[in-house]
Amino acid sequence: MKVLLAFYSRTGNTERLVNKLRETLSDVHGVEIAVHRIIPPREYRLPYLNPKALKDALSEKGTPGVKPIDLGEYDLVVIASPIWFERPAPPVTAFIEEARGCEGKRAIAITTSVSARSVYAKRLADRLRKKGFEVVGWYSLKRGHLPEEVVEELKLLAGQSR
Ligand SMILES: Cc1cc2nc3c(=O)[nH]c(=O)nc-3n(C[C@H](O)[C@H](O)[C@H](O)COP(=O)(O)O)c2cc1C
Repeated sequence: MKVLLAFYSRTGNTERLVNKLRETLSDVHGVEIAVHRIIPPREYRLPYLNPKALKDALSEKGTPGVKPIDLGEYDLVVIASPIWFERPAPPVTAFIEEARGCEGKRAIAITTSVSARSVYAKRLADRLRKKGFEVVGWYSLKRGHLPEEVVEELKLLAGQSR
């Protein structure tokens, strides 16, 4: 089972979460983890006050110029995104839009945010479904916090083959 953890993080919450996930999921028998950091061509300055950040967050395409990757070799793709303006962060939206090999691929959507509204992870899951992913789990988490019950579910999902 090859599992990809793809994430974007500007202030470290999502990165910390992904580091914890990498540690816990690599304990699952037969699971091999790869990590991909999504990097926008230029970081948004002062994103809360930046009209471009708002525009890209609300757009279906996200940040222009995010490098596409092929997901063909992975059995499961976990996508972790901060929430910006109640949407997945725009570099993540672009990553999903540009990715190849998504059709029928199992995916898990994870969002980190301050308020952790459940609709946040659902929005990320919707974006994934639109690209043809089969979304098998979605979790809306508070900042970098990873509850034990989520870890247990993710371990089960990571160890399952089709
Ligand atoms: C531009 C911007 C907009 C944000 N909008 C929201 C929001 O709508 N709801 C929310 O709960 N948190 C919001 N946040 C908080 C982040 O989602 C939260 O701090 C997240 O965990 C940051 O992840 P990171 O540290 O990996 O970059 C926003 C943060 C930024 C920078």
